[in-house]
Amino acid sequence: MRAKIIGTGSCLPDRSATNDYLSTIMDTSDQWIHSRTGIHKRHLVSSEEETTLTLAVNAANAALEDAGILPAQLDLILVATVSSDFITPSTACMVQKALGACHATAFDINAACSGFLFALNTVDAYFQSGACQTALIIGVETLSKIIDWSDRSTCVLFGDGAGAVVAKASEEGMVASIQGSDGTGGDILICKNRTNNNPYIATGTDPGYLSMNGQEVFKFAVKKVPECIQSLLAQTGLCASDVTYYLLHQANYRIITSIARKLKLPIEKFPSNVERCGNTSAASIPILLDEVHKEGKLSEGDILLLSGFGAGLTWGAALLKW
Ligand code: COA
Repeated sequence: MRAKIIGTGSCLPDRSATNDYLSTIMDTSDQWIHSRTGIHKRHLVSSEEETTLTLAVNAANAALEDAGILPAQLDLILVATVSSDFITPSTACMVQKALGACHATAFDINAACSGFLFALNTVDAYFQSGACQTALIIGVETLSKIIDWSDRSTCVLFGDGAGAVVAKASEEGMVASIQGSDGTGGDILICKNRTNNNPYIATGTDPGYLSMNGQEVFKFAVKKVPECIQSLLAQTGLCASDVTYYLLHQANYRIITSIARKLKLPIEKFPSNVERCGNTSAASIPILLDEVHKEGKLSEGDILLLSGFGAGLTWGAALLKW
């Protein structure tokens, strides 16, 4: 049995910050940000009531409603995030409690922007093994709390949000998937962000915000994502044009157009919300999938190729039948 997505949901914080707004609090401009990234605005949590958990639960409830599944029917909850509210309990356990999903096993996955794909692949493997039948998968981030707001080259890129899907074990759905990691490249996108409470080790005062070598990340993305897609297509014997939509991690519109060019495909096959949402890391692919689904663009039998890349370094892709 494979993972078939039967419902989607998403949640963005109420407040959005435009590039023009950012240019009032730092030395930047809409022209610089938009021309280099395609981003015009991003949603940011703006009150203590908006947390990683609340975004995740809102997206989950929307996905459960769309799927017609009750929380008690879930036997697995996976949350992909690098910005959980607590170290423990996991966000997945907190979601389980909030939903009352009393029969579900729940845990988090840390694979940065590839996290949703890693979680989807994990659910698919659980389904193939017969261990579970009904899963909730959430990608959620409140990266705004781990970003260095004095580093204009990174802070303008990211946004907060959550996307969720409900997957059911089925004869159809996931066709093939691929994923990988290269820890030797970990330094180009890194967030230490943890004070050390050990009595023998000085903690220092560095808060350890997210830092990035943007050009190296760009090069990695435009090489790795097309490689991933090509190898997945080769594995399945499909042509690039057989895919209805490519739902890529929304990091930067220039990365998306470069990938479309490399694959010799029209940009219309690459829906995008990066202009409105920025890079929401693990949440970006499920938010986009929810938007495309709710806009009525998907028909039964459509072939979707999801692919992403991120810190770790990590990358992955999944080809599935809608
Ligand atoms: N506003 C205005 N100027 C800015 C700026 C900002 N927000 N951020 C950086 N600059 C300046 C730099 O200081 C630099 O100025 P200098 O030439 O006087 O030193 C100049 O713009 C060029 O900076 P550079 O870093 O070379 O820009 P770039 O063309 O490489 O674009 C990124 C930077 C981050 C947009 C680009 O590298 C990128 O998109 N990388 C991928 C990042 C990504 O996707 N990360 C997430 C992965 S999951």
